[in-house]
Amino acid sequence: MNTHANTTEGRFITVEGIEGVGKSTNLAFIRGFLEQHGLEVLVTREPGGTPLGEEIRELLLAHRHDGMCADAELLLMFAARAEHLAAVVRPALARGVWVLCDRFTDATYAYQGGGRGVPAPRIAMLEDWVQGALRPHLTLLLDLPVEVGRARAAKRSGADRFEREEEAFFQRVRQAYLQRAARELERFRVIDASRPLDEVQEGLARVLEDWLASERTAS
Ligand code: TMP
Repeated sequence: MNTHANTTEGRFITVEGIEGVGKSTNLAFIRGFLEQHGLEVLVTREPGGTPLGEEIRELLLAHRHDGMCADAELLLMFAARAEHLAAVVRPALARGVWVLCDRFTDATYAYQGGGRGVPAPRIAMLEDWVQGALRPHLTLLLDLPVEVGRARAAKRSGADRFEREEEAFFQRVRQAYLQRAARELERFRVIDASRPLDEVQEGLARVLEDWLASERTAS
């Protein structure tokens, strides 16, 4: 269902995936692609994107809070999200700016839901409360096998509280992402991120080209 035929509002695009899928590099590519198409783009991230959100992010990722209970983790994610939506995302969309967000609520379903085992209805309740009707218009899921992502991520130093989780946790996260993608075919595009970077970006460009064309037809 296309609910965003309004041309004056910006579009909300999210990028998701497990550790090591190349989110940062590909976010820069997506931003460049959209800007080349004449769109004003704001790049932001979750948890974070505001001064309060970045402080919450610090709490969430720090090892001094290893063992934080799953509900506290979930509520902190949504506290950061509430601030981010109020201060950054909604105002930008209202100005006609396109918001490109490094992770959003699909990450909550994948990490807190799939990874930690929080029941999805509990997440859905917070999603409805904090977001109202706002959902991403397009979600790009960069997907690869957990072993490949972890081998890539291992090259970086200083693993945070999530990156320290065991392989089974990331298998559950990946499966939760893929299940969401399979259920919401209209919103999700799954990109095989195990391929060489130039092929991943060719794939992204194709997906975005098609999606922009469908947006033009709809509006
Ligand atoms: P990243 O921005 O470096 O990917 O780190 C953010 C971490 O936060 C990442 O491990 C995924 C996790 N996360 C959640 O667990 N739930 C969420 O809702 C979001 C947005 C991120």
